[in-house]
Amino acid sequence: MSLRVAILISGSGSNMVALARSMTGDHPARPCLVLSNRPGAGGLQKAADLGIPTEVLDHRAFDNRADFDAALDAVLRRYSPDLICLAGFMRVLTPDFVTGWQGRMLNIHPSLLPKYRGLDTHARALEAGDADHGCTVHEVTADLDDGPILGQARLAIRPGDTPDTLAARLLPLEHRLYPAVLRRVAGGCRAPLMLDDSAPFPSPQA
Ligand code: GRF
Repeated sequence: MSLRVAILISGSGSNMVALARSMTGDHPARPCLVLSNRPGAGGLQKAADLGIPTEVLDHRAFDNRADFDAALDAVLRRYSPDLICLAGFMRVLTPDFVTGWQGRMLNIHPSLLPKYRGLDTHARALEAGDADHGCTVHEVTADLDDGPILGQARLAIRPGDTPDTLAARLLPLEHRLYPAVLRRVAGGCRAPLMLDDSAPFPSPQA
C-alpha cells in the first residue's frame, strides 16, 4: 500500500512536478492531492495534466489565518495523506494546524538553514557576501523555517550573481533534493541528506 502524499502550492508548482514525477515504480509513495491557496496558481494545471486530484482553498475567502487553517485541515483529512509536502506554499501555518500534522509535513526553503529564515533569501546571501548558498528540506514545526533538517543541497555563489541568477541555478537543485529526501522519508529514513552541486545526485529512486 503506497503512502499518500499531499502537495501544497501557491505558484508555478515546479517543485510539485518534480515530486510528483519522482513517485513512480517502486517508490513507496504516490501523490494523492495538490492544493493551492491561490486559484490562479500555474501548478494546478500541471497537477491536473499529471492526473493528480486538485483543490483550491482561496485564503482571501477567510477572515483570519485560523479559519483558513481549519478549512485546510478539513480538506486534507478528506484525502487522508500520510505526508504533506509544502512546495512553494507561501502561507505561514498556525501552530494548531502544524501540531495536527507534526512530523508528517515537509517544506523546502531556498537557503542553507538555519541561515536566512523567511523571505528574500538569495538577496540576503549575496548581501552577506556568502561563498555558498543552497536549499533545505526540513520538517515543518510551529516556528517558521525551523524544524529538523532532512536534507540540504549547496551551490557556490558566483561573481556577478544576482538574486535572479542565483534562484535560477538553485531551482534545479531543489527539484533534485526534494524528491530524494521524500524518497528517504517515505522509506522511513530521516537522517539528513547533505549534497552539493559538485557531487553526483542520487536518482530520486535511490
Ligand atoms: C522555490 O524557490 C521554493 O524554494 C520556494 O518557492 C519557490 C517556487 O517554487 N519555497 P515552485 O516553482 O512553486 O515549486
